[in-house]
Amino acid sequence: MSDTPELRKVAVVTGGASGIGLALASRFVADGMHVVIGDIEAGAIDGAVARLTEEADGTQVIGVRTDVASIAEVEELIETAERAFGRIDVVCANAGVETGGKFLDVDDSAWRWLMDVNYFGALNTARAALPALERSGDGHLVFTGSLAGFATGTPFMMPYCASKMAVLAVAESLEIELRAAASKVHVHLLAPGPVRSRMIDAERNAPAGIQINEDAARREAMEAFRARQSAHGLPAELVADMVADAIATGTFFVLPHFDSAVAALERRLSWIRTGEAPGTRVAGS
Ligand SMILES: NC(=O)c1ccc[n+]([C@@H]2O[C@H](COP(=O)([O-])OP(=O)(O)OC[C@H]3O[C@@H](n4cnc5c(N)ncnc54)[C@H](O)[C@@H]3O)[C@@H](O)[C@H]2O)c1
Repeated sequence: MSDTPELRKVAVVTGGASGIGLALASRFVADGMHVVIGDIEAGAIDGAVARLTEEADGTQVIGVRTDVASIAEVEELIETAERAFGRIDVVCANAGVETGGKFLDVDDSAWRWLMDVNYFGALNTARAALPALERSGDGHLVFTGSLAGFATGTPFMMPYCASKMAVLAVAESLEIELRAAASKVHVHLLAPGPVRSRMIDAERNAPAGIQINEDAARREAMEAFRARQSAHGLPAELVADMVADAIATGTFFVLPHFDSAVAALERRLSWIRTGEAPGTRVAGS
């Protein structure tokens, strides 16, 4: 990296070393932006930075080992990006994990780990990034939620659904607050269904001491999810292109599986209207 990087737009992507985050980082590099990846997997960061640096044409890519569950580490990530490039225009609160099981089979430590990463990680990222995005004059904050934020009743995925509903609530509320304040920052919510990534192996990142549920029925459901995800999951690059379009057009909802999102909302509406609880839904449908 030279001492004086060229003045360009700058993106920060959490969970940027794999899957959707890596595809977002790659798209931003292709768009001529400097990119800073924050991720918990040091080895994966090195691989991602090497790959993106090869793709880059005059832009720079930095990796910072970051646990989004720690506000101090996320603040350090944002400060590193601003120090290196002088500005931040796009921040993707994307890092996420998945763990679960039947309600009483999920240990307290697993619930807390998942909420620490998926919910508090997104919150930490937004809180740390907002002042820098305001300074940019055209800042964009992208939350990676999920179709699971609209759809309850997926067996074995209750903690994940709960975390993504919380992300949805924060993203919507923040966008409404920022519009009322005539802010220059725009919020976007990416809420995909199945996308090809390493999410199904998310428990690889569980810190020591987290009790992962090894129940056979949960394992079986997750293996079925893995098969559906690899057969029918969208390429992460396609999802990244949709996010880039949403940033360009100022669109809040980015719904790569639009019909499934609407169907999930209709299930809830029907429950409210008829009083009849819907049945369970299959993960990845
Ligand atoms: N793949 C899907 O089908 C799908 C669908 C909907 C939403 N999502 C969401 O997309 C986001 C990205 O996941 P993905 O599917 O690309 O999975 P992935 O496992 O390929 O990538 C997730 C990245 O987050 C990183 N990460 C995990 N814990 C972290 C932490 N504490 N701090 C910082 N980084 C951490 C991982 O190291 C990894 O690089 C997640 O929020 C996930 O919930 C994925």
